[in-house]
Amino acid sequence: MTIRTSIAAAAVVFAGTATIAGTAAAEDFRLGLLTPPQHMWTLAANSFAEQLAEASGGAHSVEVFPARQLGNEAEMLQLMQTGALDMAIITVAEISNRAPEFGAFYAPFLADDIAHAGRILRTDETRALLDSLPGTVGVVGIGYGMAGLRQIVGRGPLESAADLDGLKVRITPFEPIRDFYVALGMAPTPMPLPDVYDALANGQVDAVDMDAEIIWLQRYSDHAQTMLETNHMMFPAVALVSARIWAGLSEEDRAMISELLGAAIDSTIDSYVAQDPVWLADIAGTGITYTAVDADFFADATAAWDAIWSERAGDTLTTLRAVADATRE
Ligand code: BEZ
Repeated sequence: MTIRTSIAAAAVVFAGTATIAGTAAAEDFRLGLLTPPQHMWTLAANSFAEQLAEASGGAHSVEVFPARQLGNEAEMLQLMQTGALDMAIITVAEISNRAPEFGAFYAPFLADDIAHAGRILRTDETRALLDSLPGTVGVVGIGYGMAGLRQIVGRGPLESAADLDGLKVRITPFEPIRDFYVALGMAPTPMPLPDVYDALANGQVDAVDMDAEIIWLQRYSDHAQTMLETNHMMFPAVALVSARIWAGLSEEDRAMISELLGAAIDSTIDSYVAQDPVWLADIAGTGITYTAVDADFFADATAAWDAIWSERAGDTLTTLRAVADATRE
């Protein structure tokens, strides 16, 4: 955050913008993401930036840095802890590397479908989990969003779970997903999103764990023979503000940021519920060998995952399973 001169604040008062009249200073925030410029999370960040500028009468601005320009998610979290980065939209996966209870979101087949995943994320129980983040991770959790459910694309044919055995599969770098693929007999290869396309194209990995949006937008089908529509895991996002930066904000600014950033990240849920089936159909239309499988395909791996994570995520896993039951239609 940089503090601009009081001229901007004066301009706001002059413009009659009641929202921040009386606040001490105008601020230029920086918001980081891993996702490419055309991705839903980046669009949500851009929309928040526009709305904050408007609501503050031009006093506040947000510069959005997509595509890992400020580092990978672990690095962005570190920057937020020190107050060197103001805000980010990141995967809950990265949070789970520091606060293992968040691994409960990745219970295989917790959500029946994409709409159910959205309902799970919009409950008071999931929202309450964010309350611990200032203490455990040094960030303030503003709200959840999501990407689509996870799928598997393979460079070669994948007809049964046995075909997965021994294959190198790209994963997002976090433990719950690693444990799932280890249980399947695969060799998980952690890799941040921006590196995945090349790794698939040059054969560094045999398969990729990914959501439909990226598979479609980045045309993974150019380098993959098989798409398994598995829907095996949710993939929540979280909008964060550095706790250090938060501590220096006025109540009015906190309220404005909570409302606008919260609405922007929440809007991704509706976007994915609407778009995920469209992208899946688009991928199927590329001519790739496309097979939809259900939870039975992974039954043993799911049981092995549960055995590990019922210990590690304990009460939170129990809570999320209860939330999933209560939001099932
Ligand atoms: C991934 O690591 O697969 C990922 C990260 C952010 C958004 C979407 C996908």
